[in-house]
Amino acid sequence: MMRKIGCIALLLMLAFAGFRASAQQKTDVAKPKEISPDLFGIFFEDLSYAADGGLYAELIQNRSFEYSPADNRDWNSMTAWKYETDGFGYGTISVETAAPVHPNNPHYILLDIQDEGQKGVGLENSGFDGMPVKAGKNYSFSVFLNVMSGQSLPVKVALVDRKGKELGSSSFTTSNKGWKKYTEQIHVNFDNDSAKLVLLIKAKGKVGIDMVSLFPEETFKNHKNGLRADLAQVIADIKPKFMRFPGGCLTHGDGIANIYRWKNTIGPVEQRVEQRNIWNYHQSVGLGYFEYFQFCEDIGAKPVPVLAAGVSCQNSGGTWRIGGTGQKGIPMEEMSAYVQDVLDLIEYANGPATSIWGTKRAAAGHPAPFNLEYLGIGNEDKITGIFEERFRMIYDAVHKAHPEIKIIGTVGPSPNGEDFDKGWKLADQLSVGIVDEHYYEKPQWFLKNTARYDSYNRLRSKVYIGEYASWGNTLFNALAEAVYMTSLESNGDVVRMASYAPLIARIGHTSWNPNLIYFNGTKVFPTVNYYVQQQFAANSGNEYLPGIIKLKGEKTVIDTTAGTSSVRDSATGDVILKIANAGNATLSGEADLSKINKLPKSATLIVISGDPGAKNSSDTPQAVLPQSSVIKLKKKWAFTVPAYSLTVVRISGANAEKRK
Ligand code: AHR
Repeated sequence: MMRKIGCIALLLMLAFAGFRASAQQKTDVAKPKEISPDLFGIFFEDLSYAADGGLYAELIQNRSFEYSPADNRDWNSMTAWKYETDGFGYGTISVETAAPVHPNNPHYILLDIQDEGQKGVGLENSGFDGMPVKAGKNYSFSVFLNVMSGQSLPVKVALVDRKGKELGSSSFTTSNKGWKKYTEQIHVNFDNDSAKLVLLIKAKGKVGIDMVSLFPEETFKNHKNGLRADLAQVIADIKPKFMRFPGGCLTHGDGIANIYRWKNTIGPVEQRVEQRNIWNYHQSVGLGYFEYFQFCEDIGAKPVPVLAAGVSCQNSGGTWRIGGTGQKGIPMEEMSAYVQDVLDLIEYANGPATSIWGTKRAAAGHPAPFNLEYLGIGNEDKITGIFEERFRMIYDAVHKAHPEIKIIGTVGPSPNGEDFDKGWKLADQLSVGIVDEHYYEKPQWFLKNTARYDSYNRLRSKVYIGEYASWGNTLFNALAEAVYMTSLESNGDVVRMASYAPLIARIGHTSWNPNLIYFNGTKVFPTVNYYVQQQFAANSGNEYLPGIIKLKGEKTVIDTTAGTSSVRDSATGDVILKIANAGNATLSGEADLSKINKLPKSATLIVISGDPGAKNSSDTPQAVLPQSSVIKLKKKWAFTVPAYSLTVVRISGANAEKRK
């Protein structure tokens, strides 16, 4: 039976391959071709503490006491917290749900202080592996308190080191009964990488405590509820053309109840619906859809939200990548509401500030639209009947209501196979504009597959390579990716977008390797792969110029370990040449620059090279860095590039005309 199905599939594949070949438009290699202006972007997923404990600048862990064993079997509402009675105070502490700040945020602490002792009674939070604080800097503290009995209560919040030495503090007095938000500024006088926050109440009384929060005053672009400035800046420095969020598997979730619902992640943080993270920790969703859109705008990246296609991850309830039986569909009677949620997202992003969802965007401080252009539906889902039925519903509704939105469909988790074929077939039937291909492979795979898109049918859906990476962070890995990326540029008419994945990971909390950027509480470590991505994104063009670079040497060596590309950015007129050499020998060649109008005398040369096994790690953060210099140009520019290198030449101010 299996054999028969296999044969039918093969026949269908051959028939389809024939169709692809005959319907294909030929690319005229002599002429420049338009390529995607959005080719290289980034993929953000709250994986490996990328959001909470990562890009989201909140320093308090479990600020709302919502951690639970569902997140992680060792966790509960008091994780990262300690009951503080150091000054011999006495009372009781309990986790309550009877009268919360908001029903979406059910847990809070109830302190019943019977004797305040010498120092007071309260709570201590240890942050994410400690809180890094800097002398001379201010920190924004806030808390919701509900004084249930007792007079106005004196409260002290202090940052302390491991031995209890005070690094900075602030005091205030509660003013009335009922939940109220108190905000304070804490000025810090000493550097410390692993501070704790202590909140002490020095009076008898009964008080509810929730949403204990501490942010550095200086966040990225100084937004409130903002992002960690150093990490955000390293991401911004890639100069990505787009940013995909919030995942990955996180998007379609571990079971239907765990599907990422964008509406749960907007509005006042104390009213957002927190939930388990599929990667076995917790999502405070403090970094939610508003913050994602805002970050995209801040770094000049087009937002690419990806929503679940009405189904949960096929690996739900099982071991990661094993199983494949856990996909469940949102019940059909709930699907029209789900489809409406998808449409509402478009209104939230693009609708007028007077529309229902645009009003909420405006209330968050952004009356102008976010100019949403792309929308992903589904994440490498198993292409089943359950999936297809729901995908079609969402696709048809969005396509009808918003023909201006470029919908990205999904074709499974691998570069080929059953879901890949079925996903493409569905995309053909619906004429989906773009499909999302994913692959994590050995570096050799990338070197062998540089011709992958040469034969793609230009009349079918375009491609977004939403997730890809070679398995490793060595220079050789990064160069295999670079060689492959030159082929994405030459195929930039069919490959519209590509994003390396995953983007960032906190050292000590990585659920997935490799990543593009590693970080700890105080430092950020870009990998060699990062510098390759940065060179391609920052030096991209919207026009591919074929036939400029000719490599000399053995064809088999060139074909298997090297890649070149030449693009022009029409906005600046700059022409950019790239020569990626993942081989162990120097390569030479010539670039014919004679067609560039007013060729300048010099250009910027950037080279990434070194030992193929070298990596940037927390011990050797600068093992391989791009080196920049200025070179003289000639109409026929002869070059030699080192073994294991990426060379980028940016010819600026050339006022380069289109090649005739
Ligand atoms: O990037 C890590 C994971 O890999 C993503 O969450 C998933 O989509 C893919 O399988």
